[in-house]
Amino acid sequence: MKCQVILNRHYRIGTVDERIYGGFIEHLGRAVYEGIYQPDHPCADEDGFRTDVLELVRELGTPLTRYPGGNFVSGYNWEDGVGPREKRPVRLDLAWKALEPNTFGTDEFMKWCRKAGTAPMMAVNLGTRGPADAQRLVEYCNFPGGTEQSEQRRANGSPEPYGVKLWCLGNEMDGIWQTGHCPAEEYGRRAHEAAKMMKWTDPSVELVVCGSSSDGMPTFGAWESAVLEETYDVADYLSIHKYFANPHDQTPGYLSMPEAMSEFITRTLAVCDAVGARKKSAKKIMLSFDEWNVWFHSHGEEKNSPEWTVARPLLEDIYTMEDALLVGMLMMTLLDHADRVKVACIAQSVNVIAPIMTDKTGRAWRQTIFYPFALTAKYGRGSVLRAVVDSPCYDAEFGAPATVRRNTSCLRTTSVYNEERGEVVIFAVNRDLAGEMEMEVLLEDFEPEQVIEQKELRHDDLKAVNSAASEPVAPVDRESATLSGGTLRVRLRPASWNMIRVKVR
Ligand code: AHR
Repeated sequence: MKCQVILNRHYRIGTVDERIYGGFIEHLGRAVYEGIYQPDHPCADEDGFRTDVLELVRELGTPLTRYPGGNFVSGYNWEDGVGPREKRPVRLDLAWKALEPNTFGTDEFMKWCRKAGTAPMMAVNLGTRGPADAQRLVEYCNFPGGTEQSEQRRANGSPEPYGVKLWCLGNEMDGIWQTGHCPAEEYGRRAHEAAKMMKWTDPSVELVVCGSSSDGMPTFGAWESAVLEETYDVADYLSIHKYFANPHDQTPGYLSMPEAMSEFITRTLAVCDAVGARKKSAKKIMLSFDEWNVWFHSHGEEKNSPEWTVARPLLEDIYTMEDALLVGMLMMTLLDHADRVKVACIAQSVNVIAPIMTDKTGRAWRQTIFYPFALTAKYGRGSVLRAVVDSPCYDAEFGAPATVRRNTSCLRTTSVYNEERGEVVIFAVNRDLAGEMEMEVLLEDFEPEQVIEQKELRHDDLKAVNSAASEPVAPVDRESATLSGGTLRVRLRPASWNMIRVKVR
């Protein structure tokens, strides 16, 4: 099969905001306890943080980390997690039917972020609590001193303010599973008042209002419209979430899901812009895709995990090769919307639907999805190019009952021009499960000089997984890419994820 891509340095979608490579740590399962924080582990440092996990988080390259939830945040009293540990209460976490010991809280998270090389993105509880509590948390984190909350932070060991820039106004408030779920207008009012008080406390903060927790929600569209009607002037971003699954083993259809993600983004933006137009506003609301990933392998396993215990294992999906292909393409989709998607968080970072896993008594290891994430986060920097792609397409059934998804391009590709490094980086997946693909990339206008490197992620078995014992799904170097007369030619093996870096003038 032959495919052609035309790239031109003048045709650009937008500049990549590095915050689209965000991660997420929720008080859920073994993400915090036994994940990033485990004082009794041989790798723990003086703060109880697992250094093997810290290393992998740095390698994964998430410049932003959302915290502390997720569903957890909607019943959380942030005050429970600060101050002397012996005074912190053990609480019921109603969201995940677990015990929350509160031995890890805001101050520990800030310290962990510093060590992990990531910036905090905090969520406030607008489920069981309200604007005043949210305001006090901003004051605790960001106000320099001389007030009750800021002095408490100082007394708790942090003289300097944390300067947290990004704040989520609640989580998935459209979902009936959410503690404190309410109608859109009510949430919109609550979020508006919280936003005012938070920005009065620190005018530099940026705020994310809850959009839909998936485009499958019956309220999708109407929810965004009503929420933005109340919050358009105070919100900077609208949050959306989406998880992908292949429970009926329909791989070709599953691999067409990046297009579904793109549709979700486009439709959401249409609603945002409609509200903006109604308000005759010059402002554009940007998107924060702050939960996305594959999530289905662990469905039903919660019954094996004892309720009301600390760090009960939950959502421990083990990812396959085909999940890695999908994650690589979902990242391309985020890049393709670089003009409007400014923040995104893979959900989550460690142990819970995560690229990084830990053994309680053993090592931390990389899931299959770790690799396309880490390589895209490292090299997907600069301007996303508006490519012209010519590729054969396929139709595939997906879902139960199955519907046919039509015209999925066999080649999924996105390219980024990094002017600073003088390179064009091409990400490409051959979605054909059986045939090799010859990809031709016309780069004349870039005056390409040499192929810097070519990485491939592939395994003969699409269901292959990694484990604590071995990582058979890992990228390898390839040398099939050639340059001649401004054209790059690469052979892409069936069902492979590829990254080709080309030095340009
Ligand atoms: O990431 C797991 C959960 O998925 C989050 O807590 C929630 O926001 C979403 O439903």
